[in-house]
Amino acid sequence: MRSEKYQPPRQAAWEKLRALASRPLLIRELFEKDAKRATKFSLETAGIFFDYSKQRVDDDTLAALLELADCTDLKGGIDALFNGELVNCTESRPALHTALRAREADAPTLSGDALYPTIHAQKQHMRAISDAIRRGELRGATGKPFRSIVNIGIGGSDLGPRMVCIALREYSQANLDLHFIANVDGAEIHSLLQRLDAETTLFIVASKTFTTQETLLNATTARTWLAAHIPGGQAAANQHFVAITASPARAVRWGVRDDRVLEFWDWVGGRYSLWSAIGLPIAIAIGMDRFEELLDGARQMDQHFRTEPYHSNMPVLMALLGIWNSNFLGATTQAIIPYCERLGLLPAYLQQLDMESNGKSAQVDGKPVGWTTGAILWGKTGTNGQHAFFQLLHQGTHLVPVDFIGLVADDLSEKTHHRVLIANMLAQASALMAGSENADLHRHYPGNKPSNTLLFERLDARTLGAFIALHEHRVFVQGYLWNINSFDQWGVELGKVLAKQLLDGEGELLDPSTRQLMQRAL
Ligand code: F6P
Repeated sequence: MRSEKYQPPRQAAWEKLRALASRPLLIRELFEKDAKRATKFSLETAGIFFDYSKQRVDDDTLAALLELADCTDLKGGIDALFNGELVNCTESRPALHTALRAREADAPTLSGDALYPTIHAQKQHMRAISDAIRRGELRGATGKPFRSIVNIGIGGSDLGPRMVCIALREYSQANLDLHFIANVDGAEIHSLLQRLDAETTLFIVASKTFTTQETLLNATTARTWLAAHIPGGQAAANQHFVAITASPARAVRWGVRDDRVLEFWDWVGGRYSLWSAIGLPIAIAIGMDRFEELLDGARQMDQHFRTEPYHSNMPVLMALLGIWNSNFLGATTQAIIPYCERLGLLPAYLQQLDMESNGKSAQVDGKPVGWTTGAILWGKTGTNGQHAFFQLLHQGTHLVPVDFIGLVADDLSEKTHHRVLIANMLAQASALMAGSENADLHRHYPGNKPSNTLLFERLDARTLGAFIALHEHRVFVQGYLWNINSFDQWGVELGKVLAKQLLDGEGELLDPSTRQLMQRAL
């Protein structure tokens, strides 16, 4: 819950920032005036180097942004998050994803009960199942070890594990094939099933609620396919399922053996759940010890976030710079450009994390917001994006701040490729900022386009864990300063209700356009 001291962001600090934003700052000139700007506006923690010197800010702007954080009692908000207070006020729940990576000594309690033993027991279960799959000890109904693992889940029950498994490909076990099915589009699951051997395929049904239409339909299709391809019908098919859910009774009712149900809890939000048993595909791919390294990296970022003063606090600074760009410089979108193909799913992952969390128009007390909230996140890997949409970034009419993300060292690449890749990333960030004068407007680059550059020492579990936690906290700080609830997602419900009405033949109640389309397509 918000502390009494909280003030919505319309007070003095907000006004000051508005006045500062009206000055025509040229980033190029700021570098000329301050020889130390690059080192002054960068910091390093948990294997991540963060350079924000190409943002359109000077000392005064940063001071005013830090004042904004101070005058809203952000510290109280951070403590409330970590201590398990009901920060998700519309659902009266805490958001305790940080507890999933906390050490026993720092783990919070919930309603007086220690959470650590519960979390630890689930991790042990996760270790037992992932180890048994990796060693070929967990077997299907006909006694063969599993070779193909299919995660069926959507949103937070898909994007986190899928993104991490691809990112950490370097560390994954070669003799297991991992697949992800999210969409209810039957073309996906049916064409995957054609390529699989039923006897050696294990399905993980990942769903916090165990009610999600897409996931349950895909799981049922998988079970029907199994029953048709192995002896023993549905009972045998059920041997090929593991469930991960916060509603274990529903999973058991559906047919999953109760010792194959991994539980997590309603105090873990779907888009914050990859640290829980939802991370099982990651543990299967890279092993539970490396999964623990992912948690270690996140914990390191948690500690940094909780203890570091705001002026050197990476998530807080990143959040404040995002607020500066959107609320004061008028940027409505934020591009995420990883210069690493293995991070190709990062924009999609961050889209859910950010847009489902902060795409809100109501303040925590239910009043409408009077300021812009969550940015529209989008992006693609570089260098590919350079040959597609960078034209608009350089010469278009929209202001699009960019996060460039690159690796210092990449063991899967080699020197020449890696140098070319990183040179391109640095060149783009520099060109966007510095621009290039030309009397011919077609050839003129205005520059002054802000960006962050984030360098990973290398793409390993620890650094990736820290990076994901960095964004979780960045999103939290922004939501807190906008005075919205970052932990609910009521906006996705209406569409689900209407889809059900259409499927139940109640589409006649809907608008004429939808009725016309329904007659043609449904
Ligand atoms: O519809 C949105 C959503 O509720 C997400 O927040 C969530 O990650 C996703 O659906 C999947 O939900 P579940 O894990 O309950 O199947």
